[in-house]
Amino acid sequence: MPAFTATAPGKIILIGEHAVVYGQPAIAVPVNQVQVRAIVTPKPGGKEFRVTAPAIGVDTPWDHLPPESPLRAALEGVCRTLGVRGLPAGQLKIQSTIPVAAGLGSGAAVSVALLRAVSAFLGAPLTDEQVNALAFEVEKIHHGTPSGIDNTVVTYAQPVYFVKGEPVQTFRVAAPFTLVIGDTGLPAPTKETVGDVRTGWQRDERRYERMFAALGSLTRAAHQAIVAGHPERLGPLMNEAHDWLCEMGVSHPKLDALVQAAREAGALGAKLSGGGRGGNMIALVNPDQADAISLAMRKAGAVNTITTRVQG
Ligand code: PMV
Repeated sequence: MPAFTATAPGKIILIGEHAVVYGQPAIAVPVNQVQVRAIVTPKPGGKEFRVTAPAIGVDTPWDHLPPESPLRAALEGVCRTLGVRGLPAGQLKIQSTIPVAAGLGSGAAVSVALLRAVSAFLGAPLTDEQVNALAFEVEKIHHGTPSGIDNTVVTYAQPVYFVKGEPVQTFRVAAPFTLVIGDTGLPAPTKETVGDVRTGWQRDERRYERMFAALGSLTRAAHQAIVAGHPERLGPLMNEAHDWLCEMGVSHPKLDALVQAAREAGALGAKLSGGGRGGNMIALVNPDQADAISLAMRKAGAVNTITTRVQG
């Protein structure tokens, strides 16, 4: 029996994180160097549908997954959408090269790959819209009140200009550009930072609305720069966005150290990316300087770096 396989890329937020939760735009891009692969192998005559995800120590019949498990939520979501009662005998294997809790979209990528592979196994592949909507439901388990940007960029595997509640806008990158992503090695507690920003906003709405609006303007300028073929203009916009995120209290000394090391080594701009207080930062670089900047970031404490070209 043939297996049903689907892959989904990682992602990184270029600009607009946190403000996007409050209705401002944000830009996210796929990171194809890391990915999740979901493989469903039918087991005719077998008794159970088994889920195996070695990276997170899961190897169990699907109906033994705890009720709060994102994998279970995704599987129940496919069944509900397709109107099927149970899963035929088979094995779902999830393989991932995306670091967990690092702001690289691993949760969303697992959901998207799983939803596609399992719906194909059931003979009714979900549309992108259905995959995106179900992956968003699962993101709520991971993140509490997500904006939906992660599931969107991972589902469409293209750069997206994202505004909460608006139709998906993928866009053209007129001139490719290169990012070096630096991992602090600290988990990014996105649920916590999103919650803290909300508490701050509730305490001092005017101050936070000002910061969100400033980040929104930077994101709009970044979008214009990318579609006009002037990615070098992103550098100062990224630097300014990092300052606002520091002001909001979501940076971390380790993120700041990597950002500074990247700038000193010649990056055109650098900022934290995603929820913050850990996870990743990104640096915009000239391709011929990528290795040197990546080395400088490692010397400043990055446990891993990924150089990625943004195009499409
Ligand atoms: O930490 P990440 O990369 O999953 O991104 C979180 C982005 C936030 O804007 C902070 C939250 C959200 O849901 O958009």
